Amino acid sequence: MDSLRDKYIDLIAAASDEATLEELRVQAVGKKGEISLEMRSLGKMSPEERQIMGPKLNALKDEINSALAAKKVALADAALNDRLAAEWLDVTLPGRGRRQGSIHPVSQVWEECTAIFADMGFAVAEGPQIEQDWYNFDALNIPGHHPARAEMDTFYMHRAEDDERPPHVLRTHTSPVQIRSMEQHGAPLRIICPGRVYRADYDQTHTPMFHQVEGLAIDKNISMANLKWVLEEFFSAYFGTQVKTRFRASHFPFTEPSAEVDIQCQWKDGSVTVGEGDDWLEVLGSGMVHPKVLEAGGIDPSQWQGFAFGMGIDRIAMLKYGIPDLRAFFDSDLRWLRNYGFAALDVPTIRGGLSR
Ligand code: DAH
Repeated sequence: MDSLRDKYIDLIAAASDEATLEELRVQAVGKKGEISLEMRSLGKMSPEERQIMGPKLNALKDEINSALAAKKVALADAALNDRLAAEWLDVTLPGRGRRQGSIHPVSQVWEECTAIFADMGFAVAEGPQIEQDWYNFDALNIPGHHPARAEMDTFYMHRAEDDERPPHVLRTHTSPVQIRSMEQHGAPLRIICPGRVYRADYDQTHTPMFHQVEGLAIDKNISMANLKWVLEEFFSAYFGTQVKTRFRASHFPFTEPSAEVDIQCQWKDGSVTVGEGDDWLEVLGSGMVHPKVLEAGGIDPSQWQGFAFGMGIDRIAMLKYGIPDLRAFFDSDLRWLRNYGFAALDVPTIRGGLSR
């Protein structure tokens, strides 16, 4: 028994890793281990022998077990010490700088528009981007056979084959929010609705998704003159310089009369400056809200009238910040965003303020 003890105590002391230690445990005190086999032989001894050998074997087993446990702890400590010695880091090194994100020009201009129109008493309204064709077309006096429907390059949502209802559309303009706002709030009303719109079109000046801001003012005696004032006020605040507008007679199904609005600008060396010179740039559609549209929104056209307009946010962002290609707006190219983006805490620039 002494030689068994010495053998295992030495082997345990010499073990250099946990796997070896485990092998030794199996060899000594495992089910078929040497010490376990000795214990089994107790049965064949005489009672007197057993009385002496029993406790001795038990003590030996305990001693080997504690030696194994102690060695296990020692090995773990040694492993940790090795790691601590091998792995280290210099906590005095400076941290790695992280780039700050930036505000996309569309978000910036969206905020600028909201701030300027809010200053003139317009509230912000919203509507769904997946729209019923009634709101997107019919309620705006664009019936099924109307050419404007075809011109809008509409994205239609899927309908099950046996479903006869007209499919929903990705709204092609922000004008449906006019109807939703009239339904919700009635007259008088003064709202803008900035938002995403969709058309199946893609080239240097068209992307399948873009942004518009719609305006709508309804009251007892609103006129085109109010429209012109509001728009000139807006453009002057937005571009930070007095901007003249030019109204050209046009046609939209939802307004009567209708006008396309140009802003004064100058072309020089391939770039454009707004608010000077004697060129004109078309920036929006507008007009007096058609009586049928008021009716569709639940407002009595014999009592109320109003103006409406719709303008491209991306387009006026390009004009103000000198961004040449619309498609780059939606490429998510970090270099572009770093160049044209705005610092997170930039207050919307409304240079010039309002002349009131
Ligand atoms: N919805 C028109 C478009 O997307 C723009 C527009 C024109 C909006 C005239 C209006 C308006 O509110 O009165 O082309």
